[in-house]
Amino acid sequence: MAILVTGGAGYIGSHTVLHLLNKGEKVVVFDNLQKGHQEAVMEGVSFYKGDLHDSELLDAVFAENEIEAVIHFAANSLVGESVEHPISYYQNNVAGSLNLVDRMVKSGVKKIVFSSTAAVYGEPETVPISESDRTVPGNPYGETKLAIEKLLFWADQAYGLKSVALRYFNAAGADPEGRIGEDHTPESHLIPIVLEAALGKRPHVSIFGEDYKTEDGTCIRDYIHVMDLAEAHYLALEKLKRTEESGVYNLGNGTGFSVKEVIETCREVTGREIQAVSSPRRAGDPAVLIASSQKAKDELGWIPQYPDLKEIVKHAWNWHVNHPDGYSAQ
Ligand code: UFG
Repeated sequence: MAILVTGGAGYIGSHTVLHLLNKGEKVVVFDNLQKGHQEAVMEGVSFYKGDLHDSELLDAVFAENEIEAVIHFAANSLVGESVEHPISYYQNNVAGSLNLVDRMVKSGVKKIVFSSTAAVYGEPETVPISESDRTVPGNPYGETKLAIEKLLFWADQAYGLKSVALRYFNAAGADPEGRIGEDHTPESHLIPIVLEAALGKRPHVSIFGEDYKTEDGTCIRDYIHVMDLAEAHYLALEKLKRTEESGVYNLGNGTGFSVKEVIETCREVTGREIQAVSSPRRAGDPAVLIASSQKAKDELGWIPQYPDLKEIVKHAWNWHVNHPDGYSAQ
């Protein structure tokens, strides 16, 4: 039996594929390569280049492979872009997932682990954030992820499709052995941007807002190692197989770091000078996002292996130094 990973050529998807292979699982990757990189998919993994809207191809994937479960990453995931292009976000994320779920139900595949996000919470009322807290997304990206969570809830009621939705906080880092890493075009995430500045690929890092109600005035986020996210997907699948119970889990370290602290950590790890320039706030950024991941720890048995921000940055730096032009240079 194999696991179908949609978006398996993307950042978190490819690290999860690597982890599943290490666990001895058989993996089939489905990715349209709009954002993903074929080089990020390990050799020997069955690969289908395709789009979630392509019912015929999805049916063929389910017919040609004995798929026992799906891990669904494929999505657009930029908050700012989603505000500018909500239709395309609903089309790719909601309509794409709807088609995937439809073809799963028709093919009799009844387990799915879904890549959700802390963006479903919007501006939190309290931190750390728990799964039972209110979900009021502040942008179309978060709305589309929440809509898919709700689709999965109702698909369980109607068809017995069991799902685990994993709400990630700030994914960062890379494969500790340096085989794969983070390569987005354009890059919008803080840690890779700071590391690009360390490499001289950017003149400086812009700090988006220094007037938040936090100790140093910059936004606080909960950074979680991509391999710890990968392990959570594996554990979520194991739990689905064991209990056949659907669930929703936050994934973070429960510790917040400000933008300035992240930049300082990058300076320490890289030993390079990194210029930081004060800039206006970025629209839609909550001041503080920190996860309570107690539920994932209790119910999935999840124990993050790389909670140290320095180590997260070290692994990301290792990838950036060795792949200054990302996958395109390969
Ligand atoms: N930031 C800067 N300068 C930059 C880039 C980012 O100051 O050049 C700041 C942002 O304003 C924010 C923090 O660094 O305060 C982290 O920003 P990221 O873009 O790295 O991450 P976000 O917290 O905005 O977004 C992440 C995921 C989203 C997800 C969101 C959940 O990337 O997919 O968490 O809130 F929706």
